[in-house]
Amino acid sequence: MSTRTARFTLDPAFTIGEVNPRLFGSFVEHLGRCVYTGIFEPDHPTADEQGLRQDVLDLVRELGVTAIRYPGGNFVSGYRWEDSVGPAGDRPRRLDLAWRSTETNRFGLSEYIAFLKKIGPQAEPMMAINLGTRGVAEALQLQEYANHPAGTALSEQRVAHGDKEPFGIKVWCLGNEMDGPWQTGHKTAEEYGRIAAETARAMRQIDADVELVACGSSSQAMPTFAAWEATVLQETYDLVDYISLHAYYQPLDGDLDSFIASAVDMESFIENVVATADHVGARLKSKKKINLSFDEWNVWYTADWEEHTKNADPADWPEAPRLLEDNYSVMDAVVFGSLLIALLRHADRVTVACLAQLVNVIAPIMTEPGGPAWRQTTFFPFAQASKYGRGQVLDVRVDSPTHETKQYGEAELLHATAVRGEDGSVTVFAVNRSRTESLPLQVGLNGLDLTSIVEHSALADADPDARNTLADPERVAPHQVQGTALQDGTLTAVLEPLSWNVIRLA
Ligand code: AHR
Repeated sequence: MSTRTARFTLDPAFTIGEVNPRLFGSFVEHLGRCVYTGIFEPDHPTADEQGLRQDVLDLVRELGVTAIRYPGGNFVSGYRWEDSVGPAGDRPRRLDLAWRSTETNRFGLSEYIAFLKKIGPQAEPMMAINLGTRGVAEALQLQEYANHPAGTALSEQRVAHGDKEPFGIKVWCLGNEMDGPWQTGHKTAEEYGRIAAETARAMRQIDADVELVACGSSSQAMPTFAAWEATVLQETYDLVDYISLHAYYQPLDGDLDSFIASAVDMESFIENVVATADHVGARLKSKKKINLSFDEWNVWYTADWEEHTKNADPADWPEAPRLLEDNYSVMDAVVFGSLLIALLRHADRVTVACLAQLVNVIAPIMTEPGGPAWRQTTFFPFAQASKYGRGQVLDVRVDSPTHETKQYGEAELLHATAVRGEDGSVTVFAVNRSRTESLPLQVGLNGLDLTSIVEHSALADADPDARNTLADPERVAPHQVQGTALQDGTLTAVLEPLSWNVIRLA
């Protein structure tokens, strides 16, 4: 065990900001088996009258997701919303260029809203519109169909389709990853800024209170990063509420220590986007602040996908193929937990975040067609953060031992945040990035009336490669840690090597 101790002090006078429930959003894309045989499988033994798998719904509720972004992702850039409404048997089959699949449209807009309602009141729609192959007119048609109460051709069409109540979609994404050359209808920042502004202006003519997300960069590594945000926001600043960020992490060239420190990149990405957005605001002499929608984030082993595309038969357009079905290890879950910590540490500006994705596709929940559903390792950090990470984020400045990483130089071994609930309880979320050494932790509790430790739960394993699988779905789960103490205003604990920790104080 290391003798080097990591330390920080919590004080209720020093806060970052209130956690927006939308920080625990997720993402359902028409991709692989996320929808078909994921959330929707009419023949499944647990399917309800709408074809929704109830075993999956139970896990989605347990996961604690809030806003659910839909229907893509890259898929949205070829999406024709009108194909996805009306009698299911009449809906057309279409080529999905983004994922080289056949889209049956058996699951569409109405089914998405039904899915959200079944999850419960915490679930909220977050609809992306197609600005790749389509534009202002189609965005307005979709908005009218979805949200206008009645009395117009499109709203009456929705009523005739069986949805009397409008869907009340408040948050809209203006396209997806329009900076990426892989995107159908990829645009320059000037072209995208223009169409995003035109669309936003028109959508606000229907409803001034919609909340709009402009596309930022697909990752901080994009060659156009920052210039893209500056140009897009220059065009759209007064018309949108959020700029989006997307980031996926994986080990590169076997460099595990850099992978484990991925949140260093995520935090710098957030801080650079805040700086860019505020720079545009200053230039425009605006009092308004643009918030951040981190609407795609996760660990994703993209090399597997690249391999798949190399070997795919170009004549084959399968329905709901097995794509991006990453099976996550304990190590992946610790990195994932650290990404959650990064989001919480910036809760003042990151007010929407969507874990990409929800089921089967780089997802915390896996299913087998006709078979069971189970929790991946990443399920646990998300569920715990969503359950206990509500309230005020306290300003945590760690004094931690460091180690050298190839990508990020000296990286702190401790990555941590703390959230104070309305009842005064505090939850510390902490990751030990060392693969080999335990990390002693000391937390000073200034002005906090905390007298007991409710629990110290950890996700760690002697085998960091351990995973949950169809054959062994409960191999990995968090365990309780003994020996954590609270005395004379100081919390002491030992964080196991490569561990995600949740310490709840009351
Ligand atoms: O989440 C998978 C894909 O990753 C999304 O469709 C796209 O937006 C991103 O590149």
